[in-house]
Amino acid sequence: MCATPGWASVCGPAVFQVEFELSRGGTSRGRTAVIVGAQWGDEGKGKIVDVLTQTFSVVARYAGGHNAGHTVIINGKKFILQLVPGGILRPECTSVVGNGVVIDPLAFLKEVASLRVAGVKVDGNLFVSNRAQVILPYHRMMELGSENAPGRVKIGTTSRGIGPSYEDKMGRRGLRVADLLDTHLLRTHIENACREKNMIAHALFNSDPLDADKMFREYSDAARELVPFVRDTALLLNRALAEGKSIVFEGAQGTMLDIDHGTYPFVTSSSSTSGGAATGTGVPPTSIDTVIGITKAYCTRVGSGPFPSELLGAEGEDLRKRGNEFGAVTGRPRRTGWLDLPLLRYAGMINGISWLVVTKLDVLDHLTEIPVCVGYKVDGKETDEVPAQACGYDKIECIYRNMPGWVSPTQAIRTVEGLPKAAREYMAFIEKETGAQVGMISTGPDREQTILVDEFMHRLGLESPAARD
Ligand code: IMP
Repeated sequence: MCATPGWASVCGPAVFQVEFELSRGGTSRGRTAVIVGAQWGDEGKGKIVDVLTQTFSVVARYAGGHNAGHTVIINGKKFILQLVPGGILRPECTSVVGNGVVIDPLAFLKEVASLRVAGVKVDGNLFVSNRAQVILPYHRMMELGSENAPGRVKIGTTSRGIGPSYEDKMGRRGLRVADLLDTHLLRTHIENACREKNMIAHALFNSDPLDADKMFREYSDAARELVPFVRDTALLLNRALAEGKSIVFEGAQGTMLDIDHGTYPFVTSSSSTSGGAATGTGVPPTSIDTVIGITKAYCTRVGSGPFPSELLGAEGEDLRKRGNEFGAVTGRPRRTGWLDLPLLRYAGMINGISWLVVTKLDVLDHLTEIPVCVGYKVDGKETDEVPAQACGYDKIECIYRNMPGWVSPTQAIRTVEGLPKAAREYMAFIEKETGAQVGMISTGPDREQTILVDEFMHRLGLESPAARD
């Protein structure tokens, strides 16, 4: 912050002017909203970001890497985005991969190439932070070794090298995108890191060594291709805000996979909650206006770890089939269960969620009764506290309440009033129990299969799909 006059000479008068105006409650800054997963990821954030980009100018990813997989369907055409933010599907929108992301340059360039083939504009509207961490092949080698090592807790990761890359970041031995573009530094870094990682991986996991020369050639080629995308994205985003442009911060994974607040150690290695939007992009927390939590109408999780409302039998299998619950990135079948309100309240608290978006409502269309976990019992006592230890979840007994089903199709419905009474009651119950307002409901994978609540639409300047028909 250029809070004192002394800083004005460092930051320049124009920036000082904007800061000054904002600190007095000026409204010249653009609007911002964080989209965050309120469960264990896969809540359908990609589609919601896509809907919001109607009126937002910039979409910025703030955490994770190509472990994420956002499926967006537009006019029947399916796009799976892993690193590239959802804004890319609207050419007028700027897409930013923030400093909090770990980027595998080869995966990024592959995704860019496939978007080009599909006719999607990626030049001049897609930028990568020069401070983002780089994933290199030895990160995957370390992860595979560790996941399969006897005696280690198996997290069930996506095997993309995400965790070891964040380990190197925090250990202050990582390589950032700016360093990737520095050929001399890149060679030295790869040689030193390979020597070290090869020794460790051989000693601990008996892994075959990686070839540093080959790696250098591959990644210096990739670096050349990456150059046009690289920017100081914190500067880009703050300038955009100062010019009155609006930004959506696109979360990856979900609250319960957050490194601090999730079901540790069965989590990912980044801050997927809304706090990560500030550290992962360089936009100050004081510039975040709204946090929108995304939840399925039920619950899923992929990988190992606690899941209190999980359905293990035929009912779980039925939800999996009806919801097509298979990982977008790994194809792994997702574990399924009923909506867990204590977890949703926890997600609301950690993220500061004021609006909820409920996705996949249509998957429950056939049910006459819908069980919802409304509370937890531990040792016979009711509690709303979420355990700090993964083993603490073993003691949880879910308290269920059966909500009436609507037993009619919702896929073609475009307005809240058009929803069956029981579906509206299901939404009202979620609102009452979480204290957040439901602003949007998704009843199918397509952009058009979306119901927008008037107040949410007006606050965010959105147009309803029904109005556009
Ligand atoms: P990692 O992020 O690959 O290290 O995996 C850590 C845990 O997070 C595993 O349980 C993964 O299945 C889970 N995970 C990572 N990314 C996603 C995602 O995008 N959706 C759902 N689960 C994820």
